[in-house]
Amino acid sequence: MTQDQLKQLVGEAARDEVLKLSPGQILGVGTGSTANYFIDALAPHKGHFAGTVSSSNATTERLLKHGFKVLDPNEVIVLPAYVDGADEIDPLGNMIKGGGGALTREKIIASMSKQFICVCDSSKQVPILGHFALPVEIIPLSKGVVTRELEKLGGTVTLRLAKNIRADLNQTPSEPFVTDNGGWILDIAGLEIIDPNGLEAQINQIAGVITVGLFAKEKANILLVSDASGVSRISF
Ligand code: 5RP
Repeated sequence: MTQDQLKQLVGEAARDEVLKLSPGQILGVGTGSTANYFIDALAPHKGHFAGTVSSSNATTERLLKHGFKVLDPNEVIVLPAYVDGADEIDPLGNMIKGGGGALTREKIIASMSKQFICVCDSSKQVPILGHFALPVEIIPLSKGVVTRELEKLGGTVTLRLAKNIRADLNQTPSEPFVTDNGGWILDIAGLEIIDPNGLEAQINQIAGVITVGLFAKEKANILLVSDASGVSRISF
């Protein structure tokens, strides 16, 4: 099976998981290729939910195209579940997220949700987080000072560039990647994250940081993970 087929398989398993929720509720929806498979699989059942809350402009666009109702997070108090992918997940459900740059809204929606349902293929499961470079969204004018602070953690810090050019912002490949919130992203490579909770709190303290893509406080409650033998369900 290709990685895309594995993502599709787990997207369909997530559809079955959320259809067990009682109807008429609002669902939190994540960002990325696995989340996209989930959205596509859920589309024929959109009437099961009163609406959705989206974690990025790209997800909002996809949800609207399928005819889902998309609500402003300020109109919602609590969500029964949030479904999203991950770049890495450890055996306790701590995650690195933000490979697609949507980490801030993802963390906000996760904090509003009773359960975080993580969906991924088994290549994302790691014993210790950090092989995938840890994304940190920052206020652009703080790039210098935040880079110097993050370098003290021992990794290599790189400003993310606009690989996927956003035509709406007239970007070129050598310009910084700009998030939906107008932030920039610093990626920290070479970390071995032994204490995800502690590191998340430490990076959150740095002035200029908007969000770190370490999801320890908002870790997964349920993991749906696919490999060649099918989909496994793990509760944390
Ligand atoms: C986006 C994310 C994604 O969930 C993460 O990058 C995984 O993406 P994919 O499902 O495409 O592998 O955090 O900010």
